[in-house]
Amino acid sequence: MSRKEQRSDGSTKDSLAAVVRRSELILTCGPGGVGKTTTAAALGVAAAHAGRKVVVVTVDPARRLADALGLDESIAADEPHLVKGVTNRKTDGELWALMLDAEQTFDRLVREQAGSRKQADAVLNNPVYQAISGSLSGAQEYMAVERLHQLHVSGEWDLVIVDTPPSRHAIDLLEAPDRLVGFLSHPVYRTLTVGQRTFAKVTDAASSMFLWAVKRLAGPQIVEDTVEFFRSLANIEGGLRRRAKEVSRLLRGDRTSFVVVSSPRAEAVGEAEHLLDAIGDKGFPLGGLVVNLIHPMPTELSDDDVELLADLDDGPLADQLEWHHELTRLATAERSELVAIGKLAGDAPMIELPLLDVDIHDVPGLIDLSARLV
Ligand SMILES: Nc1ncnc2c1ncn2[C@@H]1O[C@H](COP(=O)(O)OP(=O)(O)OP(=O)(O)O)[C@@H](O)[C@H]1O
Ligand SMILES: [Mg+2]
Repeated sequence: MSRKEQRSDGSTKDSLAAVVRRSELILTCGPGGVGKTTTAAALGVAAAHAGRKVVVVTVDPARRLADALGLDESIAADEPHLVKGVTNRKTDGELWALMLDAEQTFDRLVREQAGSRKQADAVLNNPVYQAISGSLSGAQEYMAVERLHQLHVSGEWDLVIVDTPPSRHAIDLLEAPDRLVGFLSHPVYRTLTVGQRTFAKVTDAASSMFLWAVKRLAGPQIVEDTVEFFRSLANIEGGLRRRAKEVSRLLRGDRTSFVVVSSPRAEAVGEAEHLLDAIGDKGFPLGGLVVNLIHPMPTELSDDDVELLADLDDGPLADQLEWHHELTRLATAERSELVAIGKLAGDAPMIELPLLDVDIHDVPGLIDLSARLV
């Protein structure tokens, strides 16, 4: 299977079809609401049609898309489940979908890294962990890539596709493993976990200030629980650190591809450009750029039409004409954004997808989109 494919313009850019066939891990990322989850699912369909056994890990999909993937309430979170109706030829693979459960992923990670069940329980049963586990900044992002690692090493899948959790900064996903390592090296964390010092003996200024503030705000019990939590975490710290580094390496491996999804709207393009820069700077492999939700360019009016319509008074036809102008302006602005963002994609393929007039809410919709993608 060749990595590069000859394109109609004679160049040899990787096509997204090639990326889908050769990658073992794909991450879709980009600004909010541009179609990351939909693209992740459609890439999954494409991979299954290429004969691969693929699992798409989604986070909080739109209700109708969840229905398309068969992820209704009866499906347990964290359990892979076969998506029906995607494959029917002998040469087809399988598409499975899984709803990320950050808490279960962390539980699994802690149990794997702990030396004993007691050590694991000390972390997981701590009231502080239970209170903060759902809301730790960046925790969902880390758990998404951690789950990717768990599924990858299980050896059960030819391809694991992970969708970015809806977050304000798509870049969080890239930085999650390094951020975890950074957290474990933070002076406050270090002072809380080093040795057998009790809260009263903590002398480090930053930690004392931190604990003093927590004590004032939340009461002494929470301080005891907090200190206890960080201590119990210290037992598995080595494992966490190793794993975060492994995940970080995996994300930069040559079997991994990042697919950036954007819309052609200026704000989204700005964020996507920032993300593409970060992907390049941090050495993550870019598999492709998908620009979704592009407005079709309306047919150009002939000079005769323009003349004929010039003297229109108010009325439905005048409104139609105004709408035609508006759409033309929008579509033109989008095309100039496309040129700018295309330059940033470098050697990676850029795929343009139109704004369809129906929501993508079922398997045939995903199959149609996957055909457009690859
Ligand atoms: N090309 C398209 N044409 C029409 N509708 C689309 C298209 N692509 C995606 N959609 C619809 O747009 C909505 C948002 O898509 P999706 O949930 O995939 O975005 P997202 O980037 O994952 O959002 P979030 O940042 O909230 O996770 C969905 O209802 C989806 O069906
Ligand atoms: Mg999404």
